[in-house]
Amino acid sequence: MTKPRLRFFENAPGQRHIVESDRYLYRQDAPSHNLVVIGTGTMGQEHMRVAALLGRAKVLGIYDPQPASMDAAEALYATICQAPLRRYPDLASACNDPDADVLMICTPNVTHLEVLKTALASGKPIFLEKPMATTLADAAALMDAVRTHSAFVQIGLQYRYKAQYREAFHEVKVRGSLGPVHTISMSEYRPPFLDKVAQWNKFNKNTGGTLVEKCCHYFDLINLMADSRAIRVYASGGRAVNFLDFEKDGVPADIDDHAFVSIDYANGIRASFTLNMFCPDFSEELIVVGERGRLITHERFDFHALQPTQTSVNVELGESGASRRTALSYPALIEQSGHHGATYFEHIALMDQLDGRSVDCATVQQGLWSMIVACAAQESIRSGQAVAIDGFLAAQQLTHLLAPEGGQS
Ligand SMILES: NC(=O)c1ccc[n+]([C@@H]2O[C@H](COP(=O)([O-])OP(=O)(O)OC[C@H]3O[C@@H](n4cnc5c(N)ncnc54)[C@H](O)[C@@H]3O)[C@@H](O)[C@H]2O)c1
Repeated sequence: MTKPRLRFFENAPGQRHIVESDRYLYRQDAPSHNLVVIGTGTMGQEHMRVAALLGRAKVLGIYDPQPASMDAAEALYATICQAPLRRYPDLASACNDPDADVLMICTPNVTHLEVLKTALASGKPIFLEKPMATTLADAAALMDAVRTHSAFVQIGLQYRYKAQYREAFHEVKVRGSLGPVHTISMSEYRPPFLDKVAQWNKFNKNTGGTLVEKCCHYFDLINLMADSRAIRVYASGGRAVNFLDFEKDGVPADIDDHAFVSIDYANGIRASFTLNMFCPDFSEELIVVGERGRLITHERFDFHALQPTQTSVNVELGESGASRRTALSYPALIEQSGHHGATYFEHIALMDQLDGRSVDCATVQQGLWSMIVACAAQESIRSGQAVAIDGFLAAQQLTHLLAPEGGQS
């Protein structure tokens, strides 16, 4: 029989006097894997926090060329874990520590390919933050580099683990309650991009563009829901409000802050995505409509009111069956640990992969297809024309990405 997990009771008032040797429900097994975190900014530190919360891995060491990021990560980790942390002097030593089981790359997008090449040379399993690259040429080079790697490479497209999308996939794919799906709409309304180290995220050359940097998450979700290949993308967008007067070292910011994107899929599904990045708070919506009904998910994160995330899924079946409205939540400690709990479940998938189990996690192919849609949308904004994916890839000598192994899977 599996021991029930009551680990989160361990720090409850009235339970702290239970000494280690008396712990059964609260006992935490020793971590069985060693992580090395490369790039210890916002996301690297989130992964360190979540690894400690989950308890299946310890952070063995960190590397970041910016001392302030290393210091902050080290100080954070000291508050959550007693284990000593190795500070590597350079990337190669971080990647080649013989005690490391997995390398987590959490550096700015434009550095991913170069950092990944050094990481791949170690032969170790790798977790690479999204988006996997900033251009399709780099994404294709990355695919080539990964092809001969015998260990796994997991991409950080983690929104599939948010409570509402897990439920939506189950409802649509497993229960099939909507019947055949024909349309998918998603939207994100949120505040501007936050400050980053050296403000890398204010420039398209570092990010690949707003639709690549941020919206690859949504294109991944839409691709998964459509379960087909995008064949045509039209987008309209631009810069209306954010960072219009921002410059660094004399170079003005150039990132878009709003967009509307339409996507046609090979199986006839039509999808749309709306982005607005000059809102006071965060909200996301997904609407999927099939022949028997409609599914709507909402996520609202009102940080001005210091409210916890509010998440729900509604299934409307009309005369086809029972409709329902359901509020969703993960345990508060998990939701608060990052991205409303998605990072925690992403770490479970990572740990399961290290334990040799097959898992639902973002593959390099899925990372690539999220980028193909995003890059086509950026190109459509630039040209004002709809972008046919076949021609778009052919123009970049990337037709081989359409081969089955480069396909959405
Ligand atoms: N999965 C998600 O939802 C999510 C959320 C936020 C950010 N991200 C991704 O995580 C990555 C990092 O973003 P962030 O928000 O942590 O940025 P950040 O600026 O807060 O941190 C990036 C860190 O990487 C370091 N760095 C730069 N070049 C490096 C190199 N060559 N080797 C090692 N470290 C290097 C920087 O000094 C900095 O400390 C980006 O790819 C971003 O898109 C993902």
